[in-house]
Amino acid sequence: MFRLKIAMLFILCLVPLSTALALFLPLPKLPPIPNDNPLVEEKIELGKQLFFDTRLSKNNNLSCNSCHNVSGSGSDGMETPIGSTGKKHRRNSATIWNVGFHTSLHWDGEALSLEHQFALHLVDPAVLDNTAKAVEKRIANIPGYKRQFAEIFGDEGATVGTIAKALASYQRTLVTASSPFDRFLEGDEFAINEQAKQGFATFQQVECGACHFYVNFAGPQPGIALEMGEGFWELFPNTRGTKYEEKYDLISDDLGRFNYTGDENHKIMWRVPSLRNIAITGPYFHNGKVKTLDEAVRVMASTELDRALNEQQVADIVEFLKSLTGRFPAQSLPRLPDDNGVEDAINHRKAPKRAGGVQMGVFTIDSSGAMTLPLAK
Ligand code: HEC
Ligand code: HEC
Repeated sequence: MFRLKIAMLFILCLVPLSTALALFLPLPKLPPIPNDNPLVEEKIELGKQLFFDTRLSKNNNLSCNSCHNVSGSGSDGMETPIGSTGKKHRRNSATIWNVGFHTSLHWDGEALSLEHQFALHLVDPAVLDNTAKAVEKRIANIPGYKRQFAEIFGDEGATVGTIAKALASYQRTLVTASSPFDRFLEGDEFAINEQAKQGFATFQQVECGACHFYVNFAGPQPGIALEMGEGFWELFPNTRGTKYEEKYDLISDDLGRFNYTGDENHKIMWRVPSLRNIAITGPYFHNGKVKTLDEAVRVMASTELDRALNEQQVADIVEFLKSLTGRFPAQSLPRLPDDNGVEDAINHRKAPKRAGGVQMGVFTIDSSGAMTLPLAK
């Protein structure tokens, strides 16, 4: 409880409390875009191809979309997934929707940006299990990719850094705005039903909102107090010895933030995750052990707030959480460059460059329309 009070104080100092709603804001259309990776159409398109491409994984068998299905919840619906070379991951595949709004990534907040996140996944034995060298070689040798990387990144070509930038650009477009609750915040009082309104009131009253607030229901981020690369962690479980701790294996050898900092104070500290689309992203928690949303709400109330909610309160909160399911922009399947470059050679044949003109047969036409014979070599 002590930690929680600090969190509340912290929030009270930062946010004008003219309305309680100021803590809960509609999702913007786009997340913050880093200066060194501007969002441009060609890069988003390239990132999308890479997102669907199994050639990033060691055994050519898993794409990002295998575990983060963008035709669905952005996750895989499994407790924990199995990586490219058969190793079981110890964590649940977090949803990819709205990831751009997190200031740090992974359940323990280890990744400081989407660009950094790719570098971790690439070598994770239970995800892509690949190496920088192997993936660079593989991607740079596919003619269609080679051409696109050269057009977008110039001489740098396809490197882990530029692959990560392209992937991050695509992921920043994965935003599910306009959920019923967003529309409610924007003034449409009929966008959510009475039970969801009651659930929102209970959510605030029992202090779920002390941790799950602001645009992504994941804390003071981004921009309000935290910049990209800074994290918002809490102890989970905060209250020790509840019946859920053993039942759902909440304390295991996976100790959260401690794993990578080695700081005793960081044991069982986890990043506060988003609650957007939570009704469809189960199973829940970092180990994926809790199957239903109502049970996840009971676990949270008990482990984080030392409270037992009655069944009406649980049902109301669940109804409110359902109103956080947004509108999912449809994703079309990209065409992936083939290994030997046949299609790329046919469809992206380079026109020889002639000063100021478009080549047409043996003549060139300049911008004024005048025709000239090609220059002698
Ligand atoms: C084998 C399944 C698997 C594949 C394939 C996979 N991921 Fe993940 N992804 C996970 C898991 C598991 C986590 C949680 C990792 C953690 O917290 O340590 C995760 C987390 C993430 C996150 C952070 C989400 C958050 O809320 O913090 C991002 C971003 C992400 N993956 C992007 C990608 C991209 C991009 C690719 C393709 C290059 C990819 N993933 C491929 C399983 C997978
Ligand atoms: C002290 C901070 C804190 C409070 C208070 C809190 N949560 Fe959480 N919540 C977290 C953290 C941290 C996690 C991630 C736990 C993990 O590592 O699995 C989480 C996870 C969740 C999840 C699962 C997310 C997922 O993707 O699997 C749900 C649902 C949730 N919280 C709802 C609530 C509700 C409802 C309340 C109020 C009853 C609440 N939380 C109160 C910090 C908090």
